[in-house]
Amino acid sequence: MNDIIKRKIILDCDPGHDDAIAILLAAGNPSIDLLAITTVGGNAGVTHTTRNALQVCEVANIPHVPVYRGCSDPLVRKGETAAEIHGESGMEGPVLPEPTRSAEKEHAVDYIVRTLLASEGDITLVAVGPLTNIAMAMRKDAAILPKIKEIVIMGGGTFGNWTPAAEFNIYVDAEAAKVVFDSGVPIVMMGLDLTHQASATGEVAEQIAQIDTPAGRLVNDLLIFFRKTYQDMFDIADPPVHDVCCIAYCIDPTVVECKHYRVDIETKGELTYGMTLVDRHNVTGLAPNVQFAYKLDHSKFWGLVKDALAAL
Ligand code: RIB
Ligand code: CA
Repeated sequence: MNDIIKRKIILDCDPGHDDAIAILLAAGNPSIDLLAITTVGGNAGVTHTTRNALQVCEVANIPHVPVYRGCSDPLVRKGETAAEIHGESGMEGPVLPEPTRSAEKEHAVDYIVRTLLASEGDITLVAVGPLTNIAMAMRKDAAILPKIKEIVIMGGGTFGNWTPAAEFNIYVDAEAAKVVFDSGVPIVMMGLDLTHQASATGEVAEQIAQIDTPAGRLVNDLLIFFRKTYQDMFDIADPPVHDVCCIAYCIDPTVVECKHYRVDIETKGELTYGMTLVDRHNVTGLAPNVQFAYKLDHSKFWGLVKDALAAL
């Protein structure tokens, strides 16, 4: 059998309904080598997001994938959570048993620094929550920068979902996002322009409801809750599973189309704090720093997700 070249990733996340599905896709696809999961405060407090990550690992049956607890609060401002979307626990809806293991003792930031420094420069950071851990790691030891193969980020966009200007992950810690976007490390940005195409339509939900595996059943329960909150909060009928796009890209980059744009982060604006300024016409004349994903192959995307859920 031909040896699949696995892509090594560290998944930094704030589970989170869509984060949970991203973990399951990473666990269920043979071309991903999920080195570790690191958690951050975002959708819920970091105690919740860490417990949620551990619970999803149990369903995915990946006891060999360590979970490292990360930063509880943003670099500068007070943290915000998204209980309106994900519930108080960050992953309301499914009823899951207590995790049988705990997070590792080492802090997520220390794990990220240690692992990148020891690597061959072949690790991708996938960041699908606020960028606090990634920024802290960069500030703790800049020697990691040339060691990062790529950073695939769910965040930002040309419109907002937490304010009219800002998307949640960037808004929670825009200072951290500025550190990351200014780092010079290759960035692939899955903003709302892309992730809103990853909608769990009724047809997709029905297909997933037929997947009789622990992962299929979990995603079915996640989508039931997520669908209701997206309808109530945004009047969006089919919930977009934002974070999953980042893992799908790591599996098959052709699942999205990208353009090389300059993107800067607003950290001073009273009304625009957390905005990602996507310079589509290069009016700034500044060097592009981001591969900006703008088109998703919806059927290829959901095909990857369904195959992974059936495999777990
Ligand atoms: O704005 C969507 C993002 O915020 C997703 O990562 C979701 O999980 C929340 O963290
Ligand atoms: Ca997330």
